[in-house]
Amino acid sequence: MKIVENPSEIYSLVASSKCNGKRVGLVPTMGALHAGHLSLVEEAKRHCDIAIATIFVNPTQFGPNEDFSKYPRTLDSDLEQLERAKCDWVFVPSTMQMFPEGLSTYLEPPTVSKNWEGQIRPGHFRGVTTVVLKLFHMIPADVAFFGRKDYQQVAVLRAMVRDLNVPIELIACDTVREQDGLAMSSRNRYLSPTDRGRAVGLWNALQHVQSLVREGCHDVERLESEMRDMLLAVPVDRIDYAAIVDGVTMEPLSHVLPDAVAIIAVCIGTTRLIDNLSLDV
Ligand code: PAJ
Repeated sequence: MKIVENPSEIYSLVASSKCNGKRVGLVPTMGALHAGHLSLVEEAKRHCDIAIATIFVNPTQFGPNEDFSKYPRTLDSDLEQLERAKCDWVFVPSTMQMFPEGLSTYLEPPTVSKNWEGQIRPGHFRGVTTVVLKLFHMIPADVAFFGRKDYQQVAVLRAMVRDLNVPIELIACDTVREQDGLAMSSRNRYLSPTDRGRAVGLWNALQHVQSLVREGCHDVERLESEMRDMLLAVPVDRIDYAAIVDGVTMEPLSHVLPDAVAIIAVCIGTTRLIDNLSLDV
């Protein structure tokens, strides 16, 4: 597995592979890898001749009171896991290479970024879209793979690619879960054993909503209140949102329609967790 730190080197590698007719797949990550990330690499291997992962903890997508400095950095284990997953190349730029002094151009993120994560984490999607667009320029891949675990992130990036005519295809991949249903996340490692026990409450609340919808309840007000009640019973320490939204626009719904997604963000102890479920209507 080739490890590349220099943006112009990765660009040349990708450009010459594409000239040779190879299909290139990109998996952007912030490291602290787990089976969820590796599933994206496996998907890239399935669709493409060359799979490239990137590892960069992007300072511009963290708010001032968020966990940038304590975000887990586990490069050795990340590289081992990528090697085992048969990832072809890994791009590991430094902060100076991504955000050199004097950089002052940022993206204005699309409307679909305004609610939910965008509202609670001001500046988050500005940082995400800016860094992902930079990665797309440094690594002109054919396809990029993202996880549905970060549902709104995929919606935001799809809008960015469409609005700015970025010549790349996006593929959204299913969320990989622990046996009890907890969505895998780099932040799960912050959970104490008791908090880990509570964390499954997000999945239970999502499953509960799905079963109510299957029984014919399409009233969003009632479904959201059931979801909240379940989360409060866990108990979680804070609910940022527990909502049912249109899966394309991320706008609130009053009635469950095809494409509806239930989305949750809560704090358990000091750890913020998000999860979602596309509702089978
Ligand atoms: P990160 O949180 O490291 O996630 C990298 C990719 O892995 C994202 O597309 C995310 O949705 C996906 N992912 C995380 N947990 C997953 C799971 N349990 N199952 C499937 N996929 C999962 O998301 C980011 O990094 C950053 O915002 C980034 C896009 C790299 C820009 O900095």
